[in-house]
Amino acid sequence: MISVAIDGPAGAGKSSLARAAAKELGFIYVDTGALYRTLGLKLIRTNTSVEDILLVEQLLKTTKVEIRFVQDEQHVFLDGEDVTSLIRTPEVSMTASKVSAIPAVRAYLLEMQRSLAKSNNVLMDGRDIGTVVLPNATVKIFLTASVEERAKRRYKELVEKGSNVTFDEVYADIEKRDYADSHREIAPLKPADDSKIVDTTGLSIEESLNLLLKTVNEGIEEK
Ligand code: DC
Repeated sequence: MISVAIDGPAGAGKSSLARAAAKELGFIYVDTGALYRTLGLKLIRTNTSVEDILLVEQLLKTTKVEIRFVQDEQHVFLDGEDVTSLIRTPEVSMTASKVSAIPAVRAYLLEMQRSLAKSNNVLMDGRDIGTVVLPNATVKIFLTASVEERAKRRYKELVEKGSNVTFDEVYADIEKRDYADSHREIAPLKPADDSKIVDTTGLSIEESLNLLLKTVNEGIEEK
């Protein structure tokens, strides 16, 4: 099986580029952030504080998070309910970032991610795929762009969806999440030693996708 690990900070265009690249390669696309978001939604719905680690651990025992593929598209299910369209709000983003720092949460989601890569050619995107989840991935990519660039893209995306956030709020949110994701004790966001850096600052979506595909294909050929 071939596995492509794509890690990188929030808003680097990872999910749209990774999805398009997976399609091009004929691989399954797994967006692991959606799993943390699904748990974030559970905490919000049950009014559980992320600060209360014991309570979160307790909650995991009665929570079911699943990934299912519907016409090749990943859907996430929370206790049997398809919540795919409910996990993209800023509130869920922030809760997901916090919940992802809890070791029991990462352990809870680890096997699910690994087993998907055992039985499929996958392109998996996240923060710790090359470092923790798939340390033997065929190719490891660290996809990034400047904070300014990522904030601009995320802002545009949110405004198009009808949100009335300001650019400054989006910028501050990205900086805050970057900091939290790369400074947590467990599985912090950082490039794996053997990952290839793909920086999309200043590139269009098409140029970014071409660069990503070129880098992935070169990596597969090297193996
Ligand atoms: O990629 P995303 O923005 O949907 O991810 C949501 C949060 O989940 C993000 O703040 C960090 C966390 N995450 C993680 O810790 N590990 C992953 N493999 C994917 C996401």
